[in-house]
Amino acid sequence: MKDIITLGIESSCDETSVAVVKNGREVLSNVINTQIAIHTQFGGVVPEIASRKHIENISDVTEAALKQAGITFDNVDVIACTYGPGLVGALLVGVSYAKALSYAIDRPLVGTNHIEGHIAANYITNTKLEPPFLCLVISGGHTHLVHIKDYKNYEVLGKTRDDAIGEAFDKVARVIGLGYPGGPKVDSLAKEGVPNIQLPKTRFENLDFSFSGIKTAVINLHHKTPDINKADLCASFEKTITEELLENTLEASKKIGVKKIALAGGVSANSYIRSSFENLKTKGFEIYYPELKLCTDNAAMIASAGYYNFINGNISDLTLNAVPNLKLG
Ligand code: KG4
Ligand code: ZN
Repeated sequence: MKDIITLGIESSCDETSVAVVKNGREVLSNVINTQIAIHTQFGGVVPEIASRKHIENISDVTEAALKQAGITFDNVDVIACTYGPGLVGALLVGVSYAKALSYAIDRPLVGTNHIEGHIAANYITNTKLEPPFLCLVISGGHTHLVHIKDYKNYEVLGKTRDDAIGEAFDKVARVIGLGYPGGPKVDSLAKEGVPNIQLPKTRFENLDFSFSGIKTAVINLHHKTPDINKADLCASFEKTITEELLENTLEASKKIGVKKIALAGGVSANSYIRSSFENLKTKGFEIYYPELKLCTDNAAMIASAGYYNFINGNISDLTLNAVPNLKLG
Protein backbone atom coordinates (compact mmCIF):
# COMPACT_ATOMS: atom_id res chain seq x y z
CA MET A 1 0.00 0.00 0.00
CA LYS A 2 1.19 3.50 -0.84
CA ASP A 3 2.50 5.57 2.07
CA ILE A 4 0.20 8.36 3.22
CA ILE A 5 1.90 11.61 4.21
CA THR A 6 -0.18 13.84 6.49
CA LEU A 7 0.60 17.47 7.18
CA GLY A 8 -0.75 18.29 10.66
CA ILE A 9 -1.57 21.83 11.80
CA GLU A 10 -2.19 22.76 15.45
CA SER A 11 -3.10 26.24 16.73
CA SER A 12 -5.75 25.70 19.43
CA CYS A 13 -3.95 27.53 22.24
CA ASP A 14 -0.45 28.99 22.55
CA GLU A 15 1.58 26.66 20.34
CA THR A 16 1.82 27.09 16.58
CA SER A 17 2.84 23.67 15.35
CA VAL A 18 3.09 21.93 11.99
CA ALA A 19 4.20 18.33 11.50
CA VAL A 20 4.72 15.78 8.77
CA VAL A 21 3.74 12.23 9.70
CA LYS A 22 3.94 9.06 7.58
CA ASN A 23 1.13 6.51 7.86
CA GLY A 24 -0.12 8.02 11.10
CA ARG A 25 2.78 6.75 13.22
CA GLU A 26 6.15 7.88 11.87
CA VAL A 27 7.09 11.50 12.59
CA LEU A 28 9.18 13.06 9.80
CA SER A 29 9.07 16.50 11.42
CA ASN A 30 7.22 18.20 14.29
CA VAL A 31 7.97 21.92 14.52
CA ILE A 32 6.56 23.69 17.58
CA ASN A 33 6.68 27.44 18.01
CA THR A 34 5.67 28.04 21.61
CA GLN A 35 4.43 31.39 22.89
CA ILE A 36 4.96 30.50 26.56
CA ALA A 37 7.57 33.26 27.08
CA ILE A 38 5.13 35.88 25.77
CA HIS A 39 2.16 34.77 27.91
CA THR A 40 4.26 34.22 31.05
CA GLN A 41 4.36 37.96 31.70
CA PHE A 42 0.52 37.93 31.92
CA GLY A 43 0.34 34.81 34.11
CA GLY A 44 -1.66 32.86 31.51
CA VAL A 45 -2.64 32.73 27.84
CA VAL A 46 -4.04 35.99 26.41
CA PRO A 47 -6.30 34.81 23.55
CA GLU A 48 -5.93 37.88 21.32
CA ILE A 49 -2.14 37.79 21.51
CA ALA A 50 -2.16 34.04 20.83
CA SER A 51 -4.19 34.54 17.61
CA ARG A 52 -1.89 37.27 16.33
CA LYS A 53 1.22 35.23 16.99
CA HIS A 54 -0.28 32.24 15.17
CA ILE A 55 -0.87 34.45 12.12
CA GLU A 56 2.70 35.74 12.24
CA ASN A 57 4.22 32.28 12.60
CA ILE A 58 2.16 29.75 10.71
CA SER A 59 3.77 30.09 7.26
CA ASP A 60 7.32 29.93 8.63
CA VAL A 61 6.49 26.96 10.86
CA THR A 62 4.95 25.13 7.87
CA GLU A 63 8.00 25.81 5.72
CA ALA A 64 10.31 24.57 8.48
CA ALA A 65 8.23 21.39 8.93
CA LEU A 66 8.39 20.58 5.20
CA LYS A 67 12.12 21.32 5.08
CA GLN A 68 12.92 19.15 8.11
CA ALA A 69 10.90 16.30 6.63
CA GLY A 70 12.76 16.76 3.33
CA ILE A 71 9.56 17.13 1.31
CA THR A 72 7.56 19.77 -0.55
CA PHE A 73 3.79 20.37 -0.76
CA ASP A 74 3.77 17.98 -3.76
CA ASN A 75 4.48 15.05 -1.42
CA VAL A 76 1.64 15.87 0.99
CA ASP A 77 -1.39 13.55 0.65
CA VAL A 78 -3.66 14.86 3.43
CA ILE A 79 -3.95 18.08 5.45
CA ALA A 80 -5.19 17.66 9.03
CA CYS A 81 -5.93 20.64 11.26
CA THR A 82 -7.30 21.09 14.77
CA TYR A 83 -10.79 22.66 14.57
CA GLY A 84 -11.68 22.41 18.28
CA PRO A 85 -11.83 22.51 21.21
CA GLY A 86 -9.73 25.59 21.94
CA LEU A 87 -9.61 29.37 21.70
CA VAL A 88 -11.78 30.46 18.78
CA GLY A 89 -9.40 33.08 17.35
CA ALA A 90 -6.43 30.77 17.67
CA LEU A 91 -8.27 27.84 16.07
CA LEU A 92 -9.43 30.02 13.17
CA VAL A 93 -5.84 30.71 12.12
CA GLY A 94 -5.01 27.01 11.70
CA VAL A 95 -8.38 26.17 10.15
CA SER A 96 -8.22 29.04 7.63
CA TYR A 97 -4.62 28.24 6.72
CA ALA A 98 -5.43 24.54 6.27
CA LYS A 99 -8.49 25.32 4.12
CA ALA A 100 -6.52 27.69 1.88
CA LEU A 101 -3.76 25.11 1.55
CA SER A 102 -6.18 22.31 0.78
CA TYR A 103 -7.71 24.43 -2.00
CA ALA A 104 -4.36 25.62 -3.35
CA ILE A 105 -2.62 22.23 -3.54
CA ASP A 106 -5.82 20.24 -4.10
CA ARG A 107 -5.47 17.79 -1.23
CA PRO A 108 -8.15 16.47 1.15
CA LEU A 109 -8.78 18.38 4.37
CA VAL A 110 -9.45 16.59 7.66
CA GLY A 111 -10.78 18.61 10.59
CA THR A 112 -9.42 16.98 13.75
CA ASN A 113 -10.51 17.07 17.38
CA HIS A 114 -7.67 18.28 19.60
CA ILE A 115 -8.48 15.71 22.32
CA GLU A 116 -8.38 12.91 19.72
CA GLY A 117 -4.96 14.29 18.87
CA HIS A 118 -3.73 13.93 22.46
CA ILE A 119 -4.95 10.32 22.47
CA ALA A 120 -3.26 9.64 19.11
CA ALA A 121 0.11 10.85 20.48
CA ASN A 122 0.19 7.38 22.04
CA TYR A 123 0.12 5.73 18.58
CA ILE A 124 3.34 7.55 17.66
CA THR A 125 5.32 6.59 20.76
CA ASN A 126 3.84 3.11 21.13
CA THR A 127 3.85 1.87 17.56
CA LYS A 128 2.21 -1.46 18.46
CA LEU A 129 -0.64 0.08 20.49
CA GLU A 130 -4.06 -0.69 18.99
CA PRO A 131 -7.58 -0.09 20.36
CA PRO A 132 -9.41 -1.12 22.44
CA PHE A 133 -7.89 0.63 25.45
CA LEU A 134 -8.78 3.07 28.18
CA CYS A 135 -7.30 6.57 27.90
CA LEU A 136 -6.98 9.12 30.68
CA VAL A 137 -6.72 12.50 28.93
CA ILE A 138 -5.31 15.03 31.39
CA SER A 139 -4.42 18.43 29.98
CA GLY A 140 -4.66 22.16 30.61
CA GLY A 141 -8.22 22.28 29.29
CA HIS A 142 -9.53 18.72 29.66
CA THR A 143 -9.85 15.79 32.02
CA HIS A 144 -11.54 12.82 30.35
CA LEU A 145 -11.62 9.11 30.95
CA VAL A 146 -12.30 7.60 27.54
CA HIS A 147 -12.95 4.08 26.27
CA ILE A 148 -11.23 3.92 22.87
CA LYS A 149 -13.26 1.12 21.28
CA ASP A 150 -11.62 1.49 17.88
CA TYR A 151 -9.86 4.25 15.96
CA LYS A 152 -13.07 6.21 15.48
CA ASN A 153 -15.37 5.02 18.21
CA TYR A 154 -14.95 6.66 21.62
CA GLU A 155 -17.06 6.58 24.74
CA VAL A 156 -16.44 9.20 27.43
CA LEU A 157 -16.85 7.36 30.75
CA GLY A 158 -16.09 10.31 33.05
CA LYS A 159 -14.96 13.90 32.91
CA THR A 160 -14.31 16.85 35.18
CA ARG A 161 -17.34 18.68 36.52
CA ASP A 162 -15.38 21.91 37.10
CA ASP A 163 -11.69 22.70 36.54
CA ALA A 164 -9.46 20.72 34.22
CA ILE A 165 -6.58 19.10 36.08
CA GLY A 166 -3.96 21.28 34.34
CA GLU A 167 -5.89 24.40 35.36
CA ALA A 168 -5.63 23.23 38.98
CA PHE A 169 -1.86 22.71 38.63
CA ASP A 170 -1.44 26.14 36.99
CA LYS A 171 -3.59 27.94 39.57
CA VAL A 172 -1.86 26.35 42.55
CA ALA A 173 1.55 27.23 41.05
CA ARG A 174 0.50 30.83 40.46
CA VAL A 175 -0.87 31.31 43.98
CA ILE A 176 2.21 29.91 45.69
CA GLY A 177 4.44 32.02 43.43
CA LEU A 178 5.92 29.43 41.07
CA GLY A 179 4.81 31.15 37.85
CA TYR A 180 3.32 29.96 34.55
CA PRO A 181 2.93 27.28 33.24
CA GLY A 182 2.67 25.77 36.66
CA GLY A 183 2.53 22.03 35.99
CA PRO A 184 6.23 21.44 35.38
CA LYS A 185 7.16 23.72 38.32
CA VAL A 186 4.86 21.90 40.77
CA ASP A 187 6.29 18.63 39.41
CA SER A 188 9.89 19.54 40.24
CA LEU A 189 9.21 21.25 43.58
CA ALA A 190 7.10 18.27 44.75
CA LYS A 191 10.18 16.05 44.46
CA GLU A 192 11.76 18.00 47.34
CA GLY A 193 8.74 17.61 49.63
CA VAL A 194 6.82 14.97 51.59
CA PRO A 195 3.09 14.43 51.07
CA ASN A 196 2.21 15.07 54.74
CA ILE A 197 -0.67 17.55 54.31
CA GLN A 198 -4.25 16.29 54.30
CA LEU A 199 -6.20 17.63 51.28
CA PRO A 200 -9.78 16.93 50.14
CA LYS A 201 -10.50 14.36 47.47
CA THR A 202 -13.74 14.20 45.51
CA ARG A 203 -15.61 11.00 44.65
CA PHE A 204 -18.85 10.90 42.70
CA GLU A 205 -21.22 7.99 42.21
CA ASN A 206 -20.09 7.89 38.57
CA LEU A 207 -16.60 8.29 37.04
CA ASP A 208 -16.53 12.10 36.96
CA PHE A 209 -13.74 14.18 38.47
CA SER A 210 -13.63 17.46 40.38
CA PHE A 211 -10.55 19.53 41.11
CA SER A 212 -11.94 22.84 42.31
CA GLY A 213 -12.17 21.61 45.94
CA ILE A 214 -8.51 20.64 46.21
CA LYS A 215 -7.43 23.76 44.32
CA THR A 216 -9.33 26.00 46.75
CA ALA A 217 -8.04 24.05 49.75
CA VAL A 218 -4.41 24.56 48.65
CA ILE A 219 -5.02 28.27 48.02
CA ASN A 220 -6.70 28.73 51.44
CA LEU A 221 -3.94 26.83 53.23
CA HIS A 222 -1.31 28.97 51.59
CA HIS A 223 -3.14 32.19 52.55
CA LYS A 224 -3.78 31.11 56.15
CA THR A 225 -0.30 29.65 56.67
CA PRO A 226 2.07 31.79 54.57
CA ASP A 227 5.16 29.96 55.86
CA ILE A 228 3.80 26.53 54.91
CA ASN A 229 6.41 24.34 53.25
CA LYS A 230 5.67 24.77 49.54
CA ALA A 231 7.42 21.57 48.52
CA ASP A 232 5.29 19.54 50.98
CA LEU A 233 2.19 21.32 49.67
CA CYS A 234 3.07 20.44 46.07
CA ALA A 235 3.84 16.82 47.01
CA SER A 236 0.53 16.51 48.90
CA PHE A 237 -1.40 18.12 46.04
CA GLU A 238 0.12 15.70 43.51
CA LYS A 239 -0.44 12.66 45.72
CA THR A 240 -4.11 13.47 46.40
CA ILE A 241 -4.90 14.33 42.80
CA THR A 242 -3.15 11.18 41.57
CA GLU A 243 -5.20 9.04 43.98
CA GLU A 244 -8.37 10.49 42.43
CA LEU A 245 -7.07 9.70 38.92
CA LEU A 246 -6.08 6.16 39.88
CA GLU A 247 -9.34 5.34 41.68
CA ASN A 248 -11.52 6.40 38.75
CA THR A 249 -9.28 4.78 36.16
CA LEU A 250 -9.21 1.46 38.00
CA GLU A 251 -12.99 1.52 38.45
CA ALA A 252 -13.44 2.26 34.74
CA SER A 253 -11.05 -0.54 33.85
CA LYS A 254 -13.05 -2.99 35.96
CA LYS A 255 -16.35 -1.76 34.52
CA ILE A 256 -15.38 -2.25 30.87
CA GLY A 257 -12.98 -5.17 31.42
CA VAL A 258 -9.98 -3.48 29.76
CA LYS A 259 -6.54 -3.62 31.39
CA LYS A 260 -4.75 -1.62 28.72
CA ILE A 261 -4.43 2.00 29.93
CA ALA A 262 -2.91 5.01 28.15
CA LEU A 263 -2.28 8.49 29.54
CA ALA A 264 -2.44 11.57 27.32
CA GLY A 265 -2.29 15.39 27.48
CA GLY A 266 0.12 17.89 29.01
CA VAL A 267 -0.37 16.71 32.59
CA SER A 268 0.61 13.16 31.59
CA ALA A 269 4.17 14.58 31.51
CA ASN A 270 3.98 14.72 35.33
CA SER A 271 6.62 12.41 36.80
CA TYR A 272 4.65 11.46 39.93
CA ILE A 273 1.52 10.60 37.92
CA ARG A 274 3.59 8.58 35.44
CA SER A 275 5.38 6.57 38.12
CA SER A 276 2.13 5.92 40.00
CA PHE A 277 0.52 4.49 36.86
CA GLU A 278 3.75 2.63 36.04
CA ASN A 279 3.31 0.73 39.33
CA LEU A 280 0.11 -0.81 37.97
CA LYS A 281 2.23 -2.93 35.63
CA THR A 282 2.97 -5.23 38.57
CA LYS A 283 -0.78 -5.86 38.83
CA GLY A 284 -1.17 -7.06 35.26
CA PHE A 285 -2.02 -3.75 33.58
CA GLU A 286 -0.48 -2.57 30.33
CA ILE A 287 0.45 1.12 30.74
CA TYR A 288 1.27 3.50 27.88
CA TYR A 289 2.19 7.19 27.62
CA PRO A 290 3.40 9.46 24.85
CA GLU A 291 7.06 10.48 25.05
CA LEU A 292 7.40 13.76 26.96
CA LYS A 293 7.57 16.09 23.96
CA LEU A 294 4.35 14.59 22.56
CA CYS A 295 2.37 15.06 25.81
CA THR A 296 1.90 18.82 25.40
CA ASP A 297 0.40 20.46 22.32
CA ASN A 298 2.04 19.54 19.02
CA ALA A 299 0.97 18.92 15.44
CA ALA A 300 2.35 15.37 15.07
CA MET A 301 -0.50 14.11 17.28
CA ILE A 302 -2.99 16.01 15.07
CA ALA A 303 -1.49 14.47 11.93
CA SER A 304 -1.80 11.02 13.51
CA ALA A 305 -5.44 11.49 14.53
CA GLY A 306 -6.13 13.09 11.14
CA TYR A 307 -4.64 10.09 9.35
CA TYR A 308 -7.01 7.71 11.15
CA ASN A 309 -9.93 10.01 10.32
CA PHE A 310 -8.84 10.04 6.68
CA ILE A 311 -8.52 6.28 6.26
CA ASN A 312 -11.93 5.91 7.90
CA GLY A 313 -13.45 8.27 5.31
CA ASN A 314 -13.96 11.13 7.74
CA ILE A 315 -13.05 14.01 5.41
CA SER A 316 -14.04 17.67 5.75
CA ASP A 317 -14.87 20.23 3.11
CA LEU A 318 -14.14 23.94 2.80
CA THR A 319 -17.11 24.83 5.04
CA LEU A 320 -15.06 23.54 8.02
CA ASN A 321 -15.19 26.05 10.87
CA ALA A 322 -13.60 26.37 14.30
CA VAL A 323 -15.69 24.81 17.09
CA PRO A 324 -14.31 26.15 20.40
CA ASN A 325 -16.33 23.76 22.59
CA LEU A 326 -16.10 20.68 20.35
CA LYS A 327 -16.94 17.51 22.27
CA LEU A 328 -15.30 14.11 22.00
CA GLY A 329 -17.28 11.15 20.65
O1 KG4 B 1 -2.08 19.37 26.63
P1 KG4 B 1 -1.60 20.73 26.90
O2 KG4 B 1 -0.32 21.18 26.26
O3 KG4 B 1 -2.68 21.80 26.54
C1 KG4 B 1 -4.07 21.58 26.53
O4 KG4 B 1 -4.57 20.99 25.55
O5 KG4 B 1 -4.70 21.99 27.51
O6 KG4 B 1 -1.48 20.83 28.49
C2 KG4 B 1 -0.95 21.94 29.14
C3 KG4 B 1 -1.04 21.68 30.62
C4 KG4 B 1 -0.72 22.89 31.47
O7 KG4 B 1 -1.73 23.04 32.43
C5 KG4 B 1 0.61 22.50 32.11
O8 KG4 B 1 0.81 23.12 33.37
C6 KG4 B 1 0.45 21.01 32.23
O9 KG4 B 1 -0.14 20.64 31.01
N1 KG4 B 1 1.73 20.30 32.40
C7 KG4 B 1 2.04 19.61 33.53
C8 KG4 B 1 3.37 19.14 33.35
N2 KG4 B 1 3.81 19.55 32.13
C9 KG4 B 1 2.78 20.27 31.56
N3 KG4 B 1 1.33 19.37 34.63
C10 KG4 B 1 1.91 18.65 35.61
N4 KG4 B 1 3.18 18.18 35.52
C11 KG4 B 1 3.94 18.39 34.42
N5 KG4 B 1 5.18 17.91 34.36
ZN1 ZN C 1 -3.76 20.13 24.36
